[in-house]
Amino acid sequence: MNNTFYIETMGCQMNKLDSELIFGQLVRLGFQNTDIPEKAGIIIFNTCSVRQHAEDKVISKIGQLRRRHQEHPEMILAIVGCMAQRLGQDLLNNHQQVDIVCGPGQLHQLSSMVREIHNKRTRLIALNDTATTDEPLEKLDSTRRHLNNAIPFQAYVRISRGCNNYCSYCIVPYVRGPERSRPTRNIIDESRRLVDNGVKEITLLGQTVNSYQYKENGKVMVLADLLEKLHDIPDLKRLRFVTSYPRHFDKRLFQAMAALPKVCPYLHLCAQSGSDRILKAMNRHYSVRQYLDIIERGREMVPQLTVAGDFIVGFPGEQEDDFQMTMDLVRKVRYKNCFIFKYSPRPGTRAEVRLQNDIPDEVKKRRNTELLALQNEIALQDNQQFVGNKVEVMVEGPSKKPHLDKAETSSANSSGCQLAGRTPGDHIVVFDGSLDLAGEIIPVTVTKASALTLFAKRYTHRV
Ligand code: SAH
Ligand code: SF4
Ligand code: F3S
Repeated sequence: MNNTFYIETMGCQMNKLDSELIFGQLVRLGFQNTDIPEKAGIIIFNTCSVRQHAEDKVISKIGQLRRRHQEHPEMILAIVGCMAQRLGQDLLNNHQQVDIVCGPGQLHQLSSMVREIHNKRTRLIALNDTATTDEPLEKLDSTRRHLNNAIPFQAYVRISRGCNNYCSYCIVPYVRGPERSRPTRNIIDESRRLVDNGVKEITLLGQTVNSYQYKENGKVMVLADLLEKLHDIPDLKRLRFVTSYPRHFDKRLFQAMAALPKVCPYLHLCAQSGSDRILKAMNRHYSVRQYLDIIERGREMVPQLTVAGDFIVGFPGEQEDDFQMTMDLVRKVRYKNCFIFKYSPRPGTRAEVRLQNDIPDEVKKRRNTELLALQNEIALQDNQQFVGNKVEVMVEGPSKKPHLDKAETSSANSSGCQLAGRTPGDHIVVFDGSLDLAGEIIPVTVTKASALTLFAKRYTHRV
């Protein structure tokens, strides 16, 4: 069998981080990465179950590999991640071409599964169960090698696993298990090592990142403590955390954000709906008023705070007036950006079992489009306020999409190209500059704005 592997990642940042761990394991085993699936001896899909669409895409990709697997029985097809956990044995039963099924709590077993299949052809499955302990996962996280990142100076660090909230629509608690906070010590050690290896920006990850709690030396450590401790790592430049849950917001978190200059003034606080009735049906445990209070307090305490949000439209029973309340919430909060999703029933969740998926798809689509249009209008207005201002940008690298507004950015730069970076508030900024600026934090002047991007030129002092 050829010695290369191809890995494709769906879903959230947790999965991106998990893919990096898989990458490290396979490289340690002597495998080489390839970007070309047709050439790979091992194909890995790291999957997501959060919406049906995400699963359908994987099922179709598995289907496309049927012929190739028949022709090359030595190839290995591994389905890992949340959908592997959800569908388990069915994936093996229904798709002869699938060789490995591995849930997110069993990732540490993946390399030995690959080795075993390699030696004697067989099919293997490893799923999370109640006996699963986090120790092997801890080891995997804390011995990671930061190899597989397009932007080598940015890294995710997990601070908790799983979720206890059981929002009525959500599959995550079923596939990722209950919430467990990682030991503070391990998080700090892992972050230090990453920074020693050139990482400058760390994003802390948790499904409800602000509920982090770990008892160490008789003291309960919370997210604010973690931020304080990580802030002390000298070469670390920026710290972020996602995603926050709108409950139990203690003042200390905002105090820490205000007091610690490396902590970016950015809050991803999912609302999901602007209607109290729908929030209740979603089992979210907060009211719109409480959500707004958190944001008001945050904006009072943390200068320049930007807010991002998630919304679901077309949840069972969402009437037009519920949807209008969501529109009102978006108007009130003035998000930097929003992720908007059409409700997708997930098998076994409370909403799927107990409620009718009664909002027609055309209505979901229309609400999605309307909410997005409103959000874009607001973001455009707010972004235009930046024109003429100086902002600090951490340069990430070449801009992915060449922007048609190139002429607007600045006069042509012979050694340069179009670069993209981010402000502390997570605004994407595009400007001309040379590639060796990647990883630097530099000032630029905003010259133009769209709803999703700020265009800028290098900042120069006027003489
Ligand atoms: N832990 C994060 C969310 C993880 S899932 C949090 O609660 O903040 C990411 C987003 O997917 C959610 O915020 C929600 O908006 C969306 N989502 C989750 N389940 C969904 C479903 N069944 N249908 C549509 N969108 C869903
Ligand atoms: Fe899902 Fe809710 Fe947990 Fe987020 S907080 S992962 S939406 S159950
Ligand atoms: Fe993430 Fe999707 Fe799993 S959003 S936690 S990869 S179900």
